[in-house]
Amino acid sequence: MKLSHALIERNSLLLLVLILITVSIGGIVEIVPLFTIETTIERVEGVRPYSPLELAGRDIYIREGCYVCHSQQVRPLKDEAERYGHYSLAAESMYDHPFQWGSKRTGPDLARVGGKYSNEWHVAHLIDPRDVVPESIMPPYAFLAERTLKAKDIALHLEANRRVGVPYTDEMIKAAKEDLQAQADPNADTSALLARYPGATIVTPTRGPGTITEMDALVAYLQVLGTQVKFRDLPAAALKQ
Ligand code: HEC
Repeated sequence: MKLSHALIERNSLLLLVLILITVSIGGIVEIVPLFTIETTIERVEGVRPYSPLELAGRDIYIREGCYVCHSQQVRPLKDEAERYGHYSLAAESMYDHPFQWGSKRTGPDLARVGGKYSNEWHVAHLIDPRDVVPESIMPPYAFLAERTLKAKDIALHLEANRRVGVPYTDEMIKAAKEDLQAQADPNADTSALLARYPGATIVTPTRGPGTITEMDALVAYLQVLGTQVKFRDLPAAALKQ
């Protein structure tokens, strides 16, 4: 034993090879099991695909580069959880393609902004942030209320998301257009929409009934952020990740 150890310590090439073998065993034990399971993300109740209007709003969020100033991940640190709410779970962004975690916080984290303000607040804030937050340095996005949402291809958009693993059903894809319209029409029958997408926020169209603007879609998206998992109803064990 003593002799072989001396041999290894004196022969650096042999030492290197043995180190590599040892490290590889550790790596294989950790990595190989991951290939045999379908997903490494633990499913959490409540997480659902985005409704068509939310998905369209998410595109506006990405197009406008909101992620440049806003992150969407509450880290598991005490001060973050106190400010923003429960830390983000992997499952909460499992249907995000691409995810919007971001890395820069010029503005606050938005992972749990849904339901924090009214739709009207968001519209006023996006038109001119300084109207509601006088010291804000966020740029105005008033033009979003002028631009009609282009969503002719929304069903294809859902379909594309399904190809990368978002569980949109045939029924959801077929009803994409109606669902999109129903979510921006306070007078519409929204029961089918809400059955498919529980908790979706119905927005009041900023330019009046019949016209859906990019602003309406963006507000629908902001209002769903972080609201899908009902943390108070979950047993503590389900949240350990
Ligand atoms: C130049 C950086 C910057 C960009 C780009 C930006 N924001 Fe902000 N945002 C801020 C800052 C700073 C604040 C905090 C002051 C305020 O509330 O206006 C903020 C606040 C917010 C809030 C309120 C958050 C809260 O919890 O109070 C929302 C919602 C928001 N931004 C949405 C957006 C959206 C949507 C976009 C893209 C269309 C966007 N922001 C782009 C800097 C930015």
